[in-house]
Amino acid sequence: MLILGIETSCDETAAALVEDVAGRWHLRSNIVASQADIHREWGGVVPELASRQHVRDICGVVERALADAGASWRGVDALAVTQGPGLVGSLLVGVSFAKAASWSLDKPLVAVNHLAGHIESIWLEHGTIALPAIVLVVSGGHTSLYLIEKAGDYQLLGRTRDDAAGEAYDKVAKLLSLGYPGGPIIDRLSAAGNDTAIRWPGTRLTNPDRNAPERDGRFDFSFSGLKTAVLRHVRQRQADLGVEQLPHQEIVDLAASFQRRVVETLIDKTFAAARWHGAKSIGIAGGVSANSRLRSDALAKAERSEIPVYIPRLALSTDNAAMIAAAGIRQLAAGRIAPPDLNAAASLPL
Ligand code: KG4
Ligand code: ZN
Repeated sequence: MLILGIETSCDETAAALVEDVAGRWHLRSNIVASQADIHREWGGVVPELASRQHVRDICGVVERALADAGASWRGVDALAVTQGPGLVGSLLVGVSFAKAASWSLDKPLVAVNHLAGHIESIWLEHGTIALPAIVLVVSGGHTSLYLIEKAGDYQLLGRTRDDAAGEAYDKVAKLLSLGYPGGPIIDRLSAAGNDTAIRWPGTRLTNPDRNAPERDGRFDFSFSGLKTAVLRHVRQRQADLGVEQLPHQEIVDLAASFQRRVVETLIDKTFAAARWHGAKSIGIAGGVSANSRLRSDALAKAERSEIPVYIPRLALSTDNAAMIAAAGIRQLAAGRIAPPDLNAAASLPL
């Protein structure tokens, strides 16, 4: 069973082929055309530019994914496409392309939630992991914890009340005029910094989320307080020194201590959720799971606490279509075929 995955939810046009052989998933190709160079100039993703670029890139990206896998259109058994969440104009390019291809090939199409894709990237990389598992999805748009008792069944335990972790990285990088996207830049700078140079305030969430009172809120995240603390600190230091651009070493130390706070928060909550639910394993997925400190600290803590941690390789951490194909295989197995009037859904819940 050969599945073509298509992902256009934000600023990457991606296509991939994943083969399901008796329940084992094999990655056959994984093509990503990043638009980072286009959006960098604007300091963030410009939705209208993103959807136009998807239109330009999608045919070539899919052809390339087929060629890399040594497959032809006729060899595709099913298609999977990201329905949401994401930028609606961008999503529509993938959804329209996938519907047209599905109709002309007469092959089933399944609709995939982007976050389910990030979760399934762990299964795609590592095969079956011990359940129950706690999965942290940490990206530019989301920071959420899920309990997974049965493969393909995702129970939301907590999520960010305000900014996502990746968003905090991107905003802090912008504030320091470091460029876009901020995550990889802060990650790289942090290696040479003193991570105890600045003590950032912690965030304690004791009350339930007003928008989701049924959850007790203890596994929720909040990063906007940290972001504001960084903003205040930078403005104060600029005023103290009478400069726009802070000295390089000060920026590097700030980056390292910011990164430490974010990573500690993510790891502490994830392991606390794992202990609370008696999880046998932990997965970490999404763009921020590409972070070098998050990866190494999580793996080190896994050894100390004897709960294995699974993180996909970098190419499967940041946005890609292989994870969409993988999540599509689950949908297909459950018989959830998308109707011909499938539409994109910008804030599709998982
Ligand atoms: O999953 P993703 O590719 O797209 C979304 O679904 O949002 O995640 C993108 C986010 C961006 O905020 C980016 O800055 C962040 O992931 N990111 C990182 C790293 N690489 C990407 N954050 C921290 N460290 C990194 N190495
Ligand atoms: Zn993503």
